[in-house]
Amino acid sequence: MNLPHLIDLDDLQVAQWEKLIMLAGEISKKPSDYFGRLSGKIMATLFYEPSTRTQMSFQTAMLRLGGEVIGFDNPQNSSVAKGESLKDTVKIMSGYADILVIRHPYEGSAKAASLYASCPVINAGDGGHLHPTQTLTDLVTLKQEKGRLTNLTIGLCGDLKNGRTVHSLLKAMVKFKGNRFVLISTEELRIPSYIRDILQANGCPFEEVFSLEEAIGELDVLYMTRIQKERFSSEEEYKRQNSIYTLDEKKLERAKLDMKIMHPLPRVDEIADAVDTDPRAIYFKQAAYGIYARMALILMLFDGSLPATAIPKPR
Ligand code: CP
Repeated sequence: MNLPHLIDLDDLQVAQWEKLIMLAGEISKKPSDYFGRLSGKIMATLFYEPSTRTQMSFQTAMLRLGGEVIGFDNPQNSSVAKGESLKDTVKIMSGYADILVIRHPYEGSAKAASLYASCPVINAGDGGHLHPTQTLTDLVTLKQEKGRLTNLTIGLCGDLKNGRTVHSLLKAMVKFKGNRFVLISTEELRIPSYIRDILQANGCPFEEVFSLEEAIGELDVLYMTRIQKERFSSEEEYKRQNSIYTLDEKKLERAKLDMKIMHPLPRVDEIADAVDTDPRAIYFKQAAYGIYARMALILMLFDGSLPATAIPKPR
């Protein structure tokens, strides 16, 4: 069986990303024009990890397209609590729904789900690995708010080791010409070596630095991230890394006037509340673009304009 899944943005061609970005931009102008396009279709959201934006924006996207939504956001209230495997849950739910959206703490879980599903699967975040629909949201946001995806100096700051949004975004941005990356983190939370390898293989200039204050002045975009407490093996280890990076008004004095501040959210203390009213802060707009990015993706999955990914027969 061949099905269109979205496990990694690399499942798609750059031309298809561009089509999605353009469609999301169109939808954002008048979302109500798209109501009823998926009438009679059902989306199941299977969230094995907490989420506000991804889960609710997928649900909003489907409802705005006229479809219906089922699912769980606490697996302990489902038969997962009785020991049901991912394989069995996915086989059952893909019989109930027309599309599955899955978030899971284990890397590779969305790919595994796609092997057992009889309908398309979208990866809504698999452990510290990838978060392709956040990246699609980030690309839409950059295009709308910065006007381009090329020739940008992008600083990524915080938990670069565990931040799946960072990994997905870097993998995507290497495909656009002229981008340069400043990776701002502690030694312990450096970007994984496989992402460094991807940057090098694509000839993308990057540097790894510790100081946000020293780097901020050269950036066109600053992508802040949360220290991912849930990925640390101990509270002590987390406390050693927490609160090292905080973006506040004082640090922003060094930044370009047209720098854009992004964050996939949620934030803890890495951006001071006072920054929210700075015109350079676009992280709340970014969350809103998530609805339009996901509406575009769901529409394209259903209308068959995304390529079918060959998958083995379910076992
Ligand atoms: N950006 C993001 O994934 O947020 P949630 O964890 O709230 O879904």
